[in-house]
Amino acid sequence: MTTVTAAAPAATLAIDGGTPVSAKAVPFMSTAMTESDINAVLTVLKSGMLRAATKCAELEARWAKITGARHAMTCANGTVALQLAYEPLFACGDEVLVPAWSYIATVSMVVARGGVPVFVDAIPGTFQIDMADAARKVTPRTRAIAATHLYGCPVDMDAVQGLAAKHGLKVIYDAAQAHLATYKGKGLGAFGDVVTYSLYATKNLATGEGGLVTCNDDALARTIGLLRSHGETDKYLHEVVGYNYRMNDMAGAIGLSRLDRLEAQTEQRRRNAARYDAILARIPGLSAPQTTPGAVPVYHLYVAQFDPAAFRCTRDAFCNALKAEGVPTAIHYPRSLPEQPALSKWDRKDTPVAFSLKNRVFALPMHHDLTDEHFAILEESLAKVAKAMRA
Ligand SMILES: Cc1ncc(COP(=O)(O)O)c(C=O)c1O
Repeated sequence: MTTVTAAAPAATLAIDGGTPVSAKAVPFMSTAMTESDINAVLTVLKSGMLRAATKCAELEARWAKITGARHAMTCANGTVALQLAYEPLFACGDEVLVPAWSYIATVSMVVARGGVPVFVDAIPGTFQIDMADAARKVTPRTRAIAATHLYGCPVDMDAVQGLAAKHGLKVIYDAAQAHLATYKGKGLGAFGDVVTYSLYATKNLATGEGGLVTCNDDALARTIGLLRSHGETDKYLHEVVGYNYRMNDMAGAIGLSRLDRLEAQTEQRRRNAARYDAILARIPGLSAPQTTPGAVPVYHLYVAQFDPAAFRCTRDAFCNALKAEGVPTAIHYPRSLPEQPALSKWDRKDTPVAFSLKNRVFALPMHHDLTDEHFAILEESLAKVAKAMRA
Protein backbone atom coordinates (compact mmCIF):
# COMPACT_ATOMS: atom_id res chain seq x y z
CA MET A 1 0.00 0.00 0.00
CA THR A 2 1.30 3.49 -0.82
CA THR A 3 1.23 5.95 2.06
CA VAL A 4 1.67 9.70 1.80
CA THR A 5 4.65 10.74 3.94
CA ALA A 6 5.81 14.31 4.35
CA ALA A 7 9.52 13.44 4.55
CA ALA A 8 10.22 11.57 1.30
CA PRO A 9 10.59 13.78 -1.79
CA ALA A 10 7.72 13.58 -4.26
CA ALA A 11 8.40 11.33 -7.26
CA THR A 12 8.53 13.12 -10.62
CA LEU A 13 5.09 13.00 -12.16
CA ALA A 14 4.68 11.25 -15.49
CA ILE A 15 3.23 14.45 -16.89
CA ASP A 16 6.59 16.10 -16.07
CA GLY A 17 8.66 13.34 -17.67
CA GLY A 18 8.75 10.84 -14.79
CA THR A 19 7.90 7.16 -15.02
CA PRO A 20 4.14 6.55 -15.00
CA VAL A 21 2.69 4.31 -12.29
CA SER A 22 1.29 2.18 -15.12
CA ALA A 23 2.09 2.18 -18.81
CA LYS A 24 -1.37 0.76 -19.43
CA ALA A 25 -4.36 2.88 -18.43
CA VAL A 26 -6.95 1.49 -16.01
CA PRO A 27 -10.15 1.06 -18.07
CA PHE A 28 -12.64 3.80 -17.16
CA MET A 29 -15.67 1.61 -17.86
CA SER A 30 -16.56 -1.90 -18.93
CA THR A 31 -19.22 -2.26 -21.60
CA ALA A 32 -18.22 -5.52 -23.30
CA MET A 33 -20.97 -7.86 -24.50
CA THR A 34 -20.76 -11.54 -23.50
CA GLU A 35 -21.49 -14.52 -25.74
CA SER A 36 -24.87 -14.87 -24.06
CA ASP A 37 -25.76 -11.20 -24.81
CA ILE A 38 -24.80 -11.76 -28.45
CA ASN A 39 -26.73 -15.02 -28.69
CA ALA A 40 -29.79 -13.35 -27.16
CA VAL A 41 -29.75 -10.77 -29.95
CA LEU A 42 -29.13 -13.42 -32.59
CA THR A 43 -32.20 -15.31 -31.42
CA VAL A 44 -34.31 -12.19 -31.93
CA LEU A 45 -32.74 -11.50 -35.32
CA LYS A 46 -33.44 -15.06 -36.43
CA SER A 47 -37.04 -14.80 -35.25
CA GLY A 48 -37.64 -11.82 -37.53
CA MET A 49 -39.66 -10.16 -34.74
CA LEU A 50 -37.64 -6.96 -34.32
CA ARG A 51 -40.30 -4.67 -32.84
CA ALA A 52 -41.19 -4.53 -29.14
CA ALA A 53 -42.62 -7.96 -28.40
CA THR A 54 -41.94 -10.77 -25.92
CA LYS A 55 -38.43 -9.62 -24.93
CA CYS A 56 -39.58 -6.12 -24.03
CA ALA A 57 -42.58 -7.56 -22.18
CA GLU A 58 -40.32 -9.89 -20.19
CA LEU A 59 -37.92 -7.05 -19.37
CA GLU A 60 -40.87 -4.96 -18.16
CA ALA A 61 -42.15 -7.77 -15.92
CA ARG A 62 -38.73 -8.39 -14.41
CA TRP A 63 -38.00 -4.68 -13.93
CA ALA A 64 -41.29 -4.08 -12.13
CA LYS A 65 -40.52 -6.96 -9.77
CA ILE A 66 -36.90 -5.98 -9.13
CA THR A 67 -37.65 -2.32 -8.44
CA GLY A 68 -40.83 -2.92 -6.46
CA ALA A 69 -43.16 -1.14 -8.89
CA ARG A 70 -46.62 -2.20 -10.07
CA HIS A 71 -46.00 -1.23 -13.71
CA ALA A 72 -42.85 -1.02 -15.83
CA MET A 73 -42.78 0.11 -19.44
CA THR A 74 -39.87 -0.02 -21.83
CA CYS A 75 -39.24 2.98 -24.08
CA ALA A 76 -36.70 4.32 -26.56
CA ASN A 77 -34.34 6.05 -24.09
CA GLY A 78 -34.13 7.80 -20.74
CA THR A 79 -34.94 11.20 -22.20
CA VAL A 80 -38.30 10.19 -23.63
CA ALA A 81 -38.92 8.23 -20.42
CA LEU A 82 -38.86 11.64 -18.70
CA GLN A 83 -41.14 13.13 -21.37
CA LEU A 84 -43.62 10.28 -20.88
CA ALA A 85 -43.52 10.88 -17.13
CA TYR A 86 -43.85 14.66 -17.28
CA GLU A 87 -46.65 14.99 -19.82
CA PRO A 88 -49.47 13.60 -17.63
CA LEU A 89 -48.17 15.12 -14.38
CA PHE A 90 -47.91 18.84 -15.07
CA ALA A 91 -49.03 21.39 -17.66
CA CYS A 92 -47.52 24.27 -19.63
CA GLY A 93 -46.63 27.16 -17.34
CA ASP A 94 -46.41 25.03 -14.19
CA GLU A 95 -43.31 25.42 -12.04
CA VAL A 96 -41.25 22.31 -11.42
CA LEU A 97 -38.53 22.10 -8.78
CA VAL A 98 -35.46 20.64 -10.49
CA PRO A 99 -31.84 19.96 -9.46
CA ALA A 100 -29.26 22.55 -10.49
CA TRP A 101 -26.70 19.72 -10.48
CA SER A 102 -27.73 16.86 -12.78
CA TYR A 103 -27.65 15.70 -16.38
CA ILE A 104 -29.49 18.08 -18.69
CA ALA A 105 -32.37 15.74 -19.65
CA THR A 106 -33.99 15.95 -16.19
CA VAL A 107 -34.53 19.66 -16.82
CA SER A 108 -34.62 20.02 -20.60
CA MET A 109 -37.65 17.73 -20.74
CA VAL A 110 -39.43 19.99 -18.23
CA VAL A 111 -38.82 22.82 -20.70
CA ALA A 112 -39.92 20.62 -23.64
CA ARG A 113 -43.20 20.07 -21.77
CA GLY A 114 -43.65 23.85 -21.40
CA GLY A 115 -42.92 23.74 -17.69
CA VAL A 116 -40.91 26.38 -15.82
CA PRO A 117 -37.81 24.88 -14.18
CA VAL A 118 -37.00 26.28 -10.75
CA PHE A 119 -33.44 25.35 -9.90
CA VAL A 120 -32.74 23.87 -6.48
CA ASP A 121 -29.21 23.81 -5.09
CA ALA A 122 -27.20 20.66 -4.33
CA ILE A 123 -26.01 19.23 -1.02
CA PRO A 124 -22.19 19.63 -1.05
CA GLY A 125 -21.28 16.13 0.18
CA THR A 126 -23.85 13.96 -1.61
CA PHE A 127 -24.38 16.18 -4.72
CA GLN A 128 -28.12 15.47 -4.39
CA ILE A 129 -31.00 17.95 -4.52
CA ASP A 130 -31.16 20.04 -1.32
CA MET A 131 -34.72 19.72 -0.11
CA ALA A 132 -34.33 22.59 2.39
CA ASP A 133 -33.64 24.85 -0.60
CA ALA A 134 -36.53 23.23 -2.50
CA ALA A 135 -38.90 24.05 0.38
CA ARG A 136 -37.91 27.72 0.15
CA LYS A 137 -38.71 27.78 -3.57
CA VAL A 138 -42.27 26.42 -3.52
CA THR A 139 -44.81 28.95 -4.85
CA PRO A 140 -48.55 28.73 -5.61
CA ARG A 141 -47.53 27.77 -9.19
CA THR A 142 -45.35 24.80 -8.18
CA ARG A 143 -46.82 21.51 -9.41
CA ALA A 144 -44.04 18.94 -9.30
CA ILE A 145 -40.60 17.94 -8.08
CA ALA A 146 -38.23 16.24 -10.54
CA ALA A 147 -35.34 14.76 -8.54
CA THR A 148 -32.36 12.85 -9.93
CA HIS A 149 -30.76 9.98 -8.01
CA LEU A 150 -27.47 11.34 -9.24
CA TYR A 151 -24.47 9.07 -9.85
CA GLY A 152 -26.58 6.20 -8.51
CA CYS A 153 -27.27 7.53 -5.00
CA PRO A 154 -30.93 7.95 -4.02
CA VAL A 155 -31.98 11.40 -2.85
CA ASP A 156 -33.59 12.01 0.56
CA MET A 157 -36.96 10.63 -0.47
CA ASP A 158 -38.52 11.17 2.95
CA ALA A 159 -37.87 14.88 2.47
CA VAL A 160 -39.08 14.86 -1.16
CA GLN A 161 -42.27 12.97 -0.35
CA GLY A 162 -42.82 15.16 2.73
CA LEU A 163 -42.62 18.39 0.74
CA ALA A 164 -44.79 16.91 -2.02
CA ALA A 165 -47.46 15.83 0.47
CA LYS A 166 -47.45 19.25 2.16
CA HIS A 167 -48.06 21.13 -1.09
CA GLY A 168 -49.88 18.52 -3.20
CA LEU A 169 -46.98 18.17 -5.66
CA LYS A 170 -46.34 15.34 -8.13
CA VAL A 171 -42.96 13.61 -7.88
CA ILE A 172 -40.85 12.25 -10.70
CA TYR A 173 -37.59 10.51 -9.90
CA ASP A 174 -34.94 10.35 -12.62
CA ALA A 175 -33.19 7.05 -11.86
CA ALA A 176 -31.24 6.94 -15.14
CA GLN A 177 -28.07 6.30 -13.13
CA ALA A 178 -29.56 4.37 -10.21
CA HIS A 179 -30.58 0.89 -11.37
CA LEU A 180 -31.14 -1.38 -8.33
CA ALA A 181 -30.48 1.34 -5.75
CA THR A 182 -32.62 1.15 -2.62
CA TYR A 183 -33.90 3.56 0.01
CA LYS A 184 -34.79 2.44 3.54
CA GLY A 185 -34.89 -1.17 2.37
CA LYS A 186 -37.19 -0.60 -0.60
CA GLY A 187 -36.61 -0.55 -4.34
CA LEU A 188 -36.93 2.82 -6.06
CA GLY A 189 -40.20 1.79 -7.70
CA ALA A 190 -41.98 2.20 -4.37
CA PHE A 191 -41.53 5.99 -4.32
CA GLY A 192 -43.06 8.95 -6.12
CA ASP A 193 -45.54 9.10 -9.00
CA VAL A 194 -43.18 7.96 -11.75
CA VAL A 195 -39.58 6.71 -11.88
CA THR A 196 -37.57 6.83 -15.11
CA TYR A 197 -34.44 4.93 -16.17
CA SER A 198 -31.97 5.13 -19.03
CA LEU A 199 -30.47 2.01 -20.61
CA TYR A 200 -27.92 4.00 -22.61
CA ALA A 201 -24.74 2.18 -23.66
CA THR A 202 -22.72 3.17 -20.57
CA LYS A 203 -25.41 2.76 -17.91
CA ASN A 204 -25.25 0.00 -15.26
CA LEU A 205 -27.87 -1.87 -17.30
CA ALA A 206 -27.23 -0.97 -20.93
CA THR A 207 -29.04 -1.90 -24.12
CA GLY A 208 -27.35 0.68 -26.36
CA GLU A 209 -30.31 3.02 -26.39
CA GLY A 210 -33.31 2.25 -24.21
CA GLY A 211 -35.34 3.37 -21.24
CA LEU A 212 -37.85 2.26 -18.63
CA VAL A 213 -40.68 4.01 -16.84
CA THR A 214 -42.26 2.64 -13.65
CA CYS A 215 -45.31 3.71 -11.70
CA ASN A 216 -47.87 2.30 -9.30
CA ASP A 217 -51.07 3.95 -10.53
CA ASP A 218 -53.09 1.94 -13.08
CA ALA A 219 -54.64 4.97 -14.82
CA LEU A 220 -51.28 6.75 -15.05
CA ALA A 221 -49.64 3.61 -16.45
CA ARG A 222 -52.35 3.40 -19.10
CA THR A 223 -51.79 7.04 -20.09
CA ILE A 224 -48.02 6.59 -20.31
CA GLY A 225 -48.52 3.41 -22.34
CA LEU A 226 -50.76 5.31 -24.75
CA LEU A 227 -48.39 8.25 -25.09
CA ARG A 228 -45.56 5.81 -25.82
CA SER A 229 -47.29 4.43 -28.90
CA HIS A 230 -49.41 7.02 -30.76
CA GLY A 231 -52.29 6.85 -28.30
CA GLU A 232 -53.32 3.66 -30.04
CA THR A 233 -55.95 1.56 -28.26
CA ASP A 234 -56.79 -0.70 -31.20
CA LYS A 235 -55.27 -1.10 -34.65
CA TYR A 236 -55.27 2.40 -36.17
CA LEU A 237 -57.59 3.71 -33.46
CA HIS A 238 -55.94 6.62 -31.65
CA GLU A 239 -57.49 7.78 -28.40
CA VAL A 240 -54.99 10.58 -27.71
CA VAL A 241 -52.12 12.20 -29.56
CA GLY A 242 -48.98 10.29 -28.68
CA TYR A 243 -45.53 9.44 -29.95
CA ASN A 244 -43.47 6.51 -31.10
CA TYR A 245 -41.22 6.12 -28.09
CA ARG A 246 -41.10 2.33 -28.19
CA MET A 247 -38.06 0.13 -27.55
CA ASN A 248 -37.39 -2.94 -29.76
CA ASP A 249 -36.85 -6.61 -28.97
CA MET A 250 -33.15 -6.62 -29.85
CA ALA A 251 -32.58 -4.06 -27.11
CA GLY A 252 -35.01 -5.99 -24.90
CA ALA A 253 -33.00 -9.18 -25.38
CA ILE A 254 -29.71 -7.45 -24.48
CA GLY A 255 -31.37 -5.97 -21.42
CA LEU A 256 -32.67 -9.35 -20.25
CA SER A 257 -29.34 -11.06 -20.80
CA ARG A 258 -27.43 -8.37 -18.93
CA LEU A 259 -30.01 -8.18 -16.18
CA ASP A 260 -28.93 -11.69 -15.15
CA ARG A 261 -25.56 -10.21 -14.14
CA LEU A 262 -26.68 -6.82 -12.82
CA GLU A 263 -27.02 -7.72 -9.16
CA ALA A 264 -23.54 -9.25 -8.92
CA GLN A 265 -22.05 -6.36 -10.90
CA THR A 266 -23.76 -3.86 -8.61
CA GLU A 267 -22.30 -5.60 -5.56
CA GLN A 268 -18.87 -5.35 -7.18
CA ARG A 269 -19.39 -1.61 -7.75
CA ARG A 270 -20.24 -1.24 -4.04
CA ARG A 271 -17.08 -3.11 -3.02
CA ASN A 272 -15.06 -0.89 -5.36
CA ALA A 273 -16.61 2.21 -3.80
CA ALA A 274 -15.62 1.01 -0.32
CA ARG A 275 -12.02 0.59 -1.55
CA TYR A 276 -12.01 4.10 -3.02
CA ASP A 277 -13.50 5.51 0.18
CA ALA A 278 -10.60 4.01 2.16
CA ILE A 279 -7.99 5.32 -0.30
CA LEU A 280 -9.41 8.84 -0.35
CA ALA A 281 -9.67 8.94 3.46
CA ARG A 282 -5.85 8.80 3.50
CA ILE A 283 -5.39 11.73 1.08
CA PRO A 284 -6.12 15.19 2.52
CA GLY A 285 -7.79 17.47 -0.01
CA LEU A 286 -9.67 14.69 -1.79
CA SER A 287 -12.98 13.46 -0.48
CA ALA A 288 -15.24 10.53 -1.13
CA PRO A 289 -18.90 10.97 -2.09
CA GLN A 290 -21.27 10.87 0.84
CA THR A 291 -24.45 8.81 0.87
CA THR A 292 -27.97 10.00 1.69
CA PRO A 293 -28.95 8.44 5.06
CA GLY A 294 -31.02 5.31 4.39
CA ALA A 295 -29.87 5.03 0.78
CA VAL A 296 -27.88 2.16 -0.72
CA PRO A 297 -26.21 3.58 -3.85
CA VAL A 298 -25.19 1.65 -6.96
CA TYR A 299 -22.24 3.86 -7.99
CA HIS A 300 -23.00 4.37 -11.65
CA LEU A 301 -20.22 6.89 -11.19
CA TYR A 302 -17.78 7.25 -8.32
CA VAL A 303 -17.39 11.01 -8.04
CA ALA A 304 -14.68 12.35 -5.75
CA GLN A 305 -14.21 15.97 -4.70
CA PHE A 306 -11.05 18.00 -5.07
CA ASP A 307 -10.43 20.84 -2.63
CA PRO A 308 -8.74 23.61 -4.65
CA ALA A 309 -7.28 25.11 -1.44
CA ALA A 310 -5.36 21.90 -0.66
CA PHE A 311 -3.39 21.76 -3.92
CA ARG A 312 -1.20 24.05 -5.98
CA CYS A 313 -3.03 23.13 -9.17
CA THR A 314 -6.54 23.12 -10.56
CA ARG A 315 -8.78 20.06 -10.61
CA ASP A 316 -8.18 19.77 -14.36
CA ALA A 317 -4.39 19.83 -13.96
CA PHE A 318 -4.72 17.21 -11.22
CA CYS A 319 -6.77 14.99 -13.53
CA ASN A 320 -4.32 15.46 -16.39
CA ALA A 321 -1.52 14.34 -14.07
CA LEU A 322 -3.57 11.29 -13.04
CA LYS A 323 -4.15 10.44 -16.69
CA ALA A 324 -0.40 10.50 -17.36
CA GLU A 325 0.08 8.01 -14.50
CA GLY A 326 -2.50 5.64 -16.06
CA VAL A 327 -5.72 6.78 -14.37
CA PRO A 328 -8.39 8.25 -16.63
CA THR A 329 -11.04 10.47 -15.05
CA ALA A 330 -14.17 12.24 -16.32
CA ILE A 331 -16.00 15.37 -15.27
CA HIS A 332 -19.70 14.96 -14.53
CA TYR A 333 -20.40 17.80 -15.10
CA PRO A 334 -18.26 20.67 -16.41
CA ARG A 335 -20.99 23.20 -15.55
CA SER A 336 -24.15 23.36 -13.49
CA LEU A 337 -27.48 23.27 -15.32
CA PRO A 338 -28.33 26.96 -14.76
CA GLU A 339 -25.03 27.74 -16.51
CA GLN A 340 -26.00 25.78 -19.63
CA PRO A 341 -26.76 28.17 -22.49
CA ALA A 342 -29.98 26.25 -23.18
CA LEU A 343 -31.22 26.76 -19.61
CA SER A 344 -29.62 30.05 -18.51
CA LYS A 345 -32.94 31.87 -18.98
CA TRP A 346 -34.11 30.22 -15.75
CA ASP A 347 -30.89 30.87 -13.82
CA ARG A 348 -31.67 32.92 -10.70
CA LYS A 349 -28.06 32.80 -9.50
CA ASP A 350 -29.21 31.19 -6.27
CA THR A 351 -27.57 27.76 -6.48
CA PRO A 352 -24.01 28.46 -5.22
CA VAL A 353 -23.13 24.88 -4.28
CA ALA A 354 -23.95 23.62 -7.78
CA PHE A 355 -21.93 26.47 -9.25
CA SER A 356 -18.88 25.48 -7.18
CA LEU A 357 -19.07 21.73 -7.85
CA LYS A 358 -17.97 22.14 -11.44
CA ASN A 359 -14.44 22.97 -10.28
CA ARG A 360 -14.30 20.22 -7.68
CA VAL A 361 -15.79 16.97 -8.98
CA PHE A 362 -14.01 14.19 -10.86
CA ALA A 363 -15.15 10.66 -11.57
CA LEU A 364 -12.70 7.79 -11.11
CA PRO A 365 -12.89 4.50 -13.04
CA MET A 366 -15.90 2.52 -11.76
CA HIS A 367 -17.19 -0.77 -13.12
CA HIS A 368 -17.51 -4.44 -12.28
CA ASP A 369 -14.21 -5.42 -13.96
CA LEU A 370 -11.84 -3.45 -11.70
CA THR A 371 -9.21 -5.77 -10.23
CA ASP A 372 -6.76 -5.71 -7.30
CA GLU A 373 -4.08 -4.77 -9.81
CA HIS A 374 -6.17 -1.82 -11.02
CA PHE A 375 -6.68 -0.68 -7.44
CA ALA A 376 -2.95 -0.81 -6.78
CA ILE A 377 -2.45 1.55 -9.75
CA LEU A 378 -5.33 3.77 -8.67
CA GLU A 379 -4.07 4.08 -5.11
CA GLU A 380 -0.45 4.70 -6.03
CA SER A 381 -1.37 7.25 -8.70
CA LEU A 382 -3.74 9.21 -6.48
CA ALA A 383 -1.18 9.32 -3.66
CA LYS A 384 1.68 10.24 -6.03
CA VAL A 385 -0.17 13.09 -7.74
CA ALA A 386 -1.64 14.40 -4.47
CA LYS A 387 1.82 14.50 -2.88
CA ALA A 388 3.43 16.26 -5.83
CA MET A 389 0.60 18.78 -6.17
CA ARG A 390 0.09 19.55 -2.48
CA ALA A 391 -0.17 23.31 -1.78
C1 LIG B 1 -29.57 11.58 -14.95
C2 LIG B 1 -29.91 11.28 -16.38
N1 LIG B 1 -31.14 11.54 -16.83
C3 LIG B 1 -31.51 11.27 -18.08
C4 LIG B 1 -30.63 10.73 -19.00
C5 LIG B 1 -31.06 10.52 -20.41
O1 LIG B 1 -31.01 9.20 -20.79
P1 LIG B 1 -30.80 8.78 -22.34
O2 LIG B 1 -29.39 9.10 -22.70
O3 LIG B 1 -31.09 7.31 -22.33
O4 LIG B 1 -31.78 9.54 -23.13
C6 LIG B 1 -29.32 10.44 -18.58
C7 LIG B 1 -28.33 9.87 -19.52
O5 LIG B 1 -27.16 10.09 -19.44
C8 LIG B 1 -28.95 10.72 -17.25
O6 LIG B 1 -27.72 10.48 -16.80
